[in-house]
Amino acid sequence: MKQLAVFISGSGSNLQALIDAIRAGELEARIVVVVSNRANAYGLVRAEKAHLPTLYFPLKAYREAGQSREAYDADLAEMTLAYQPDLVVLAGWMHVLSPAFLGRFPGRVLNLHPALPGQFAGTHAIQRAYEAFQRGEIDQTGVMVHWVIPEVDAGPVVATATVPLQAGDSLADLEARVHATEHRLLVEAIRSVDPVEK
Ligand code: GAR
Repeated sequence: MKQLAVFISGSGSNLQALIDAIRAGELEARIVVVVSNRANAYGLVRAEKAHLPTLYFPLKAYREAGQSREAYDADLAEMTLAYQPDLVVLAGWMHVLSPAFLGRFPGRVLNLHPALPGQFAGTHAIQRAYEAFQRGEIDQTGVMVHWVIPEVDAGPVVATATVPLQAGDSLADLEARVHATEHRLLVEAIRSVDPVEK
């Protein structure tokens, strides 16, 4: 049974997909903590509704105290380690984690990104893919799950799925298609990986 720490910053629809897959017996895993860097992330509400432990851990207090990003990441790692996860799953976590965090979870941090490997790293990936389609530069986009390295939205790929772009699509249409694909792919990816020994 995989023990998951799920990191979120927003709606948490991918967290919900994990909660639902575990409940349905489709994913043998347990969510040991849901971590958010944003107080108003709706994913925290989803976690509470599912009676999961939550940790709200904002960067702001560190910034205001003149403390470094590395100090935040190191403390975040310590607090996460207390829950003894096998895997840290970044499911819409919009902070870049430095080696101060990653070094404490070698081979155990997965990230979900709404684009194919090497494309549209960073924020607003779906919108940038949509705009590239409008310019005739691409005819498909996709979703990936990968092991996390310090470079943003890069690292060894665990799973990908393509998402077609269709003439007449609105951005909202594409977003809905990408998210539906993510919800499936994230479950499959977590099922498929073997985290290294703790
Ligand atoms: C997802 O589309 C995820 O791939 C993306 O944030 C969204 C979170 O949605 N992550 C990134 O862009 C990481 N670079 P959710 O809060 O509804 O799960």
